[in-house]
Amino acid sequence: MNSDWNYPTTMWVGKDRVKDLSIACKTLNINKPLLVTDSGLAKSKIVINVLNNLKENGILVELYSNVVGNPTGTNVNEGADYYKKNNCDGVIAFGGGSGLDVGKAIAFMSGQTQSIWDFEDVGDNWTKANSDKIAPIIAVPTTAGTGSETGRASVILNEETGVKNIIFHPKFLPSIVILDPVLTVGLPAKITAATGMDALAHNLEAYCAPGYHPMADGIALEGMRLINDWLLEAVNNGSNIEARQNMLTAASMGSTAFQKGLGAIHSLSHPVNALNNIHHGLSNAIFMPYVLTFNKDVIEKKIIKICDYLELKDRSFDGFVNWVLDLRKKLDMPHKLSEVIDEKDFDIDRLSKMALADPSTGGNPKKLTEDDMKIMYQHSMTGELFK
Ligand SMILES: [Fe+2]
Repeated sequence: MNSDWNYPTTMWVGKDRVKDLSIACKTLNINKPLLVTDSGLAKSKIVINVLNNLKENGILVELYSNVVGNPTGTNVNEGADYYKKNNCDGVIAFGGGSGLDVGKAIAFMSGQTQSIWDFEDVGDNWTKANSDKIAPIIAVPTTAGTGSETGRASVILNEETGVKNIIFHPKFLPSIVILDPVLTVGLPAKITAATGMDALAHNLEAYCAPGYHPMADGIALEGMRLINDWLLEAVNNGSNIEARQNMLTAASMGSTAFQKGLGAIHSLSHPVNALNNIHHGLSNAIFMPYVLTFNKDVIEKKIIKICDYLELKDRSFDGFVNWVLDLRKKLDMPHKLSEVIDEKDFDIDRLSKMALADPSTGGNPKKLTEDDMKIMYQHSMTGELFK
């Protein structure tokens, strides 16, 4: 199953391909990369082996690992200073969503003079950047979910405002991605399940988002098929390399497809991730059937096409919703938001405001109001799907 792809970027795929990291550096003329990862992974055998392998191959790698779960502007600025101080000439973004997002943002900020917040993904802010000064990026994901390795943005928390901002530039897209399933073998079943549901939400919301983008639609459909075929196996038998590889691929496909847009699953998720500290993939899994049934009248035909492509037994809208419910149950995930958030910690007014303002809202198949967000939150608390 080892192969090289050049779409959406150069991707080296297969078992043990992480050993080609030094070749990737040489291909991009990187002699002194900064490897960016989170503090937990930095101590792991995986990263220690990667650093040793690079050094053995003559690559003078530096390490920056002061990266937290919800990466902050401080993490990025500190990393960019470290990059400059050590005269690095490229970034290896290594890890789950946090490591990848910070790595990409450090490569970007290493050559900019303005504040990172000047490049928030609003209007054409990205054109203000000095694009000649963006360092080359190699991305190596160690989870199969966010798909940040094929994305052109990073999500960074502004500690002063408490808001997660999307920082966008086309050159955030890594020049080389290495998808090595061996790196994900040690992921616990719960994380495999939650990140897998994030990948499903990306493909599903991209497919349902309005707009003409047949390429994204095709990728999203096949991404969902891979998840249908392999997610349960990856969760139940974590050392199955074929399952792990297909999930990594499905995650990369999800973020490739969601250039088209996301939707209310993500709009509802981001606020509870930020305020209630709920895992992003888990909240996506919870909200999925409520958002599907809320959007039913405008997405029914599309959902039936997904049923056909996935060869589901019941190829109807309800059949698809039942497939989601059944998958969640098999993954041992809760049906109701109230199973993970206490009523007293549930500030529905604030959450609904944040959900409406979320950048994903524009991609929802139905135009949404703050009341719609409130109603969807209420249903997800009580467990009642929309009729
Ligand atoms: Fe997501």
